Amino acid sequence: MRMTVIGTGYLGATHAACMAELGHEVLGIDVDERKIEALKAGKVPFYEPGLPDVLERNIASRRLSFTTTYEEAAQFANVHFIGVGTPQQRGSYAADTTYVEAVIDNLVPHLKGDHLILGKSTVPVGTAAALQERANRLAADAGGHASVEIAWNPEFLREGYAVKDTIEPDRIVLGVRGASTTEGESRAEAIAREVYATPLQNGTPFIVTDLQTAELVKVSANAFLATKISFINAVSEVCEIVGADVTQLADAIGYDDRIGRKFLGAGLGFGGGCLPKDIRAFMARAGEVGADQALTFLREVDAINMRRRQRVVDLAREELGSLIGRNITVLGAAFKPNSDDVRDSPALAVAGQLSLAGASVRVYDPQGMDNAAKVFPTLDYASSLEDALAGAELVILATEWDEFKQMDPVWAAELVDKQLLIDGRNVLDPPTWQAAGWRLRALGRASG
Ligand SMILES: NC(=O)c1ccc[n+]([C@@H]2O[C@H](COP(=O)([O-])OP(=O)(O)OC[C@H]3O[C@@H](n4cnc5c(N)ncnc54)[C@H](O)[C@@H]3O)[C@@H](O)[C@H]2O)c1
Repeated sequence: MRMTVIGTGYLGATHAACMAELGHEVLGIDVDERKIEALKAGKVPFYEPGLPDVLERNIASRRLSFTTTYEEAAQFANVHFIGVGTPQQRGSYAADTTYVEAVIDNLVPHLKGDHLILGKSTVPVGTAAALQERANRLAADAGGHASVEIAWNPEFLREGYAVKDTIEPDRIVLGVRGASTTEGESRAEAIAREVYATPLQNGTPFIVTDLQTAELVKVSANAFLATKISFINAVSEVCEIVGADVTQLADAIGYDDRIGRKFLGAGLGFGGGCLPKDIRAFMARAGEVGADQALTFLREVDAINMRRRQRVVDLAREELGSLIGRNITVLGAAFKPNSDDVRDSPALAVAGQLSLAGASVRVYDPQGMDNAAKVFPTLDYASSLEDALAGAELVILATEWDEFKQMDPVWAAELVDKQLLIDGRNVLDPPTWQAAGWRLRALGRASG
């Protein structure tokens, strides 16, 4: 089957390559010429394990190509995925939907015949219906040679596991318009069944809903995950005061399968290009549709999350006194391991705050350094873990990369100036580190 994927960032480049891997002929489109040049050359412009192989293989087999022109997209296929960004608006909690609107504006006037547009971007409820009206208007203005159906097919991939999550998703959700006399029967489900034939054959649950439910499924899933993380982080604030251990507590409650242990890792909290902006956009949209009270708790979820970053800075101050001129090493820049994505990264937020407080901050991340240097050019970036640790008076583990989790405390002790570490992710074994002479502070656990 032929299809286009519009927007080739973390989501779109992965989707395009994986759809080709499933046997489809795919054209990826982006307005960013440098990104498209890189992709054409078989280079993934970000870090995602396994994706370079899939990209190269499918470019070589000619099932996958890339372009910057919408005319080509319109001629290439009758099925189009939207994967452009929906960031937080400036000065508001709401999502900025101008990029998805721009896709419709740029694509629809070039279309002829019957087309299906499947939105994958995370959007506020009501966006798909508004885009359908927009597409109908544009198609009519262009002479009425095209009929365009918009459906919503939210994406649940996790960066770091994006290839697996796209090829073997844990569920596929499709929002389709209701049958109406003017617009006719929806073709979206039949087409989606063809697109996702392989995962569907493998038993992936397929949930077909109306448009608004599909839009809400995605933001609800992210709101739930964010709430779970902030829940354990709120409990960790109490643990710290009374001397309880939040990691044991999480293990103990996590055995209850109604609760589950995943997303109960107390620490620096969530960040990235999705969770923070998605919970804010969900709150904003709830207010706009008149459910003002429904999601106010998400404001607290957000606040608890932000407090974790401040708490790490406060711990640094408790340990070092004044931060001015102190050599602090922050291990991690990406918002989570196995990614180079530094959007709203807790690690970088901490590094930035410490730097603003006068500390001399050195950052090391196995993959996120280039992106971090673009956001915070004034921080000092180390070339290796060893280089990062050299001369440190305080080490902060801020992103739980395996390289940091597996660090040998005896080896690390040789490099630093002072054996003082804040485990911002609760991933190190305190007795092992203490036995090697380290003073370890962690969120939600007694110090020692
Ligand atoms: N990254 C994830 O893990 C993930 C997971 C699920 C859902 N999402 C959602 O997917 C969407 C995209 O996220 P992302 O992380 O891939 O963002 P991204 O910023 O990495 O990629 C967006 C891409 O869209 C391109 N673009 C912008 N306007 C365009 C236009 N008019 N035409 C063509 N291309 C255009 C940009 O150049 C960029 O390459 C967001 O709504 C996000 O919430 C992301």
